[in-house]
Amino acid sequence: MTSEQFVGAIDQGTTGTRFMVFDHAGQVVANAYEKHEQIYPQPGWVEHDPVEIWENTKSVMTDALSEAGIDADQLAAIGVTNQRETTVLWDRDSGTPVHEALVWQDRRTTDRVEELQDAGMAGTIREKTGLEADAYFSATKAEWILENADPMKLEPAKQQSVRDRAEEGEVLFGTIDTWLIHKLTGNHITDVTNASRTMLYDIHDADWDDELLEEFGVPEACLPEVRPSSDDDYYGHTDPDGFLGAEVPVAGALGDQQAALFGQTCFDAGDAKNTYGTGSFFLMNTGEDAVESEHGLLTTVAFQRSGEPINYALEGSIFITGAAVEFLEDIGLIKSAAQTAELASRVDSTDGVYFVPALTGLGAPHWDGRARGTIVGMTRGTKKEHIVRATLEAIAYQTRDVAEAMEADSGIEMGSLRVDGGAVKNDFLCQLQADIIGSEIVRPEVDETTALGSAYAAGLAVGYWETVDELRDNWQIDREFESEMDPEDADRTYERWSEAVERSRGWARD
Ligand code: G3P
Repeated sequence: MTSEQFVGAIDQGTTGTRFMVFDHAGQVVANAYEKHEQIYPQPGWVEHDPVEIWENTKSVMTDALSEAGIDADQLAAIGVTNQRETTVLWDRDSGTPVHEALVWQDRRTTDRVEELQDAGMAGTIREKTGLEADAYFSATKAEWILENADPMKLEPAKQQSVRDRAEEGEVLFGTIDTWLIHKLTGNHITDVTNASRTMLYDIHDADWDDELLEEFGVPEACLPEVRPSSDDDYYGHTDPDGFLGAEVPVAGALGDQQAALFGQTCFDAGDAKNTYGTGSFFLMNTGEDAVESEHGLLTTVAFQRSGEPINYALEGSIFITGAAVEFLEDIGLIKSAAQTAELASRVDSTDGVYFVPALTGLGAPHWDGRARGTIVGMTRGTKKEHIVRATLEAIAYQTRDVAEAMEADSGIEMGSLRVDGGAVKNDFLCQLQADIIGSEIVRPEVDETTALGSAYAAGLAVGYWETVDELRDNWQIDREFESEMDPEDADRTYERWSEAVERSRGWARD
């Protein structure tokens, strides 16, 4: 056993939980992952069990450390990164959730959002929070839980309504970072990037917004304290008598997409990355300016370090990309995601087939909660290979949708794009992306940049890394992909894609 110090990162994503340990060079020295159950109580509803997520978090932490032979005392700090917007409310004293977590993909509050739009609230929401009024964010999810959670689930002595208990600060609200930080340290804290995804937080004033809290009936007493993403004061420490057996500072937290931006060392205005996970999230750092989008993007918080101003970002949130491949697996068309490149490359094109994977509606730049998955252009000659290829192409086309909006909003022409996330191991997809977007695609050596970003945030807070220049030095290119497609061909197929998107819109009815 060495006494070398490392930094740990909990990456709690939509499909599973990972714990990674990084060394000073930003290299992975330990890694463990566990999936959790996806609960679909009704069409359009998606839930997770917060207790399962916490149990998995503990087990991936202990597994990763023991497999790598690292003692918990060797962790200089722990960072947290998480699926954003997913909403949990729990009993402060017992730590028991009052309901399953409502996942960011959950569309049950679409009607409520339409009501807000009809009441003319969308502009106010956009001005204050930088977000589109959409069921994606936490506000309507928290409102739904406060109204619908069964108080009988709580101890008999505490069976007053969940909202009454939230008003007394006995039921707490949080996104997944908050839930895990509370479990790890006992403190009720979120970071500013996660707060910016709740639709309750004014990103300009950097404070919870009274008007929005009132609109959604979310009591202030149940809200977490908002702290910088890299916090020199630390969020707290792990319990030395707890599962880890060590007192480790928990000092950094970022929503997973902001963490990937940080891990890709996109510290300056104009730096951009796209992460390919369940969905894809394209973020461009806009520095200290909160740039308002005129093309369907979100304005959001990129990160904040202790004692420094907030850095903002423009974001294109694409709801379904990797999950479209999972969908092919679920319906039995393919056996595993690993097969897709080989199957797709058996054909030269999709033969005119387009798959718009609007399985949970469309996010940026279309924002249509009623869009649904649509396959157009099939003929009697359409084969499985065409549909698989159309699925990979859809990932690339959706990225082009947001890249075009990003260029229009920022006025910056994108020469190259840094990519990360599980799917970028797929060379075929990276090449396809370069072809369809017409820009160079740059894949870094460490593609788990989400976990790396939160490790960086925590490590900077405790002085494990002293400057961001050290982090820039750690960033290394694995491979670059240049466009090989005639731009006119790329434009022509992209136009057809846009027509297919139109056909997917407004499909779902009550
Ligand atoms: O906004 C949702 C996003 O944070 C989910 O990310 O990686 O869990 O799909 P991921």
